[in-house]
Parts: sequence; structure tokens; C-alpha cells
Amino acid sequence: MVFMRKIRAGIITVSDRASRGERNDVSGPEIARWAENMDIEIVEEAIVPDEIPDIRKSLTDFVEKGFDLILTTGGTGFAPRDVTPEATRAVIDREAPGFAEAMRAKSLTITPHAVLSRAVSGICRQSLIINLPGSPKAVRENLGFIEKAIPHAIMLLRNEVKDCGSN
Ligand code: MTE
Repeated sequence: MVFMRKIRAGIITVSDRASRGERNDVSGPEIARWAENMDIEIVEEAIVPDEIPDIRKSLTDFVEKGFDLILTTGGTGFAPRDVTPEATRAVIDREAPGFAEAMRAKSLTITPHAVLSRAVSGICRQSLIINLPGSPKAVRENLGFIEKAIPHAIMLLRNEVKDCGSN
């Protein structure tokens, strides 16, 4: 077993209603539960409205704080105010499409609505940013599809992998 410094992560819930306190955020806590099982430390959580400037600001803030992993939930669909992918694209400097591709492909085995998620995954400096859909069910399912690749992704971002494929 290779020792790895604990992954430090941030969660951003993108929801107009949750940001106004009109409904409880249930998907952020769903991610937090998953993180606990994965031994990932959630350093900070934010709830922002479906506005590109707010989402960008929160993403940039978490990148500047040096988080390894930033998970967003919500705003990936087709509704007029679903703009999380656009805000994410504006922040990332390298695409990492494999996570989004895997989530959509695997999710299609569960629901035909999986094609409606426009989720983006990419890298900004040292941070891996992954969009997740908004429902707690979708969060749970999608994280299950990608969780095995996350520690190795973070080790690569930290430049801690000497011999890729040996662990
Ligand atoms: N993926 C999985 N695994 N499970 C789901 O229930 N819901 C889909 C899709 N991806 C779903 C899923 C639905 S109904 C939508 S509209 C899109 O994610 C976008 O969700 P969002 O607008 O809440 O981000």
C-alpha cells in the first residue's frame, strides 16, 4: 500500500433555491458522506446561485486555497439557468473529459436521462474539478462510477507518481 497524503476537497452546491435558504441542500451532504467513506477531507462547502460569476468565484476561491478536488453538484442540465458547465469551462486550464465521459456512459445503464447531464471535468492548477448532477441519487451513483480513479488522478496532479501503472 502506497502512502498518500490525505486528499483535501471542497464542495459547491449550485442551486438558486438552496442559496436563498428556500430548500435544504441534500446533495452537498451526500457528497460529504461519500468523502468520509473515501477518507477524503472536506475542507469547505459553499452554496451558490445558478449564476456564472458566483460559480466561477467559488471555484477560483477553492483553487486558490489549494484544494486537490472540487466537486460541484447541480446546474448541469438543460434548464435555462443550468450554467455550471459554462462556469467550469471558464475556470479550467486543462480538460479532463474522462470523468464526465465515464459518468454519462455508466449512468446510461441506469437512466436514459443520463444524456441530459452536460457535466464537465477538468483541471485548474493543482485542482481537479468535477461537475455532478443535482439530485442526491445522481450524486451517489456518479461518484460510485469514478471514485476508483480519483486518488491516482490527485497523485498525478501532485506530481507524486514516479511509475504510472505500478500501483
Ligand atoms: N445520472 C445518474 N447516474 N442518475 C440520475 O438520476 N439524472 C439525470 C442526469 N444524470 C441522473 C443522472 C437527469 S434527470 C438530469 S436532468 C441531468 O443529470 C442533469 O441534472 P442537473 O440539472 O440536476 O445537474
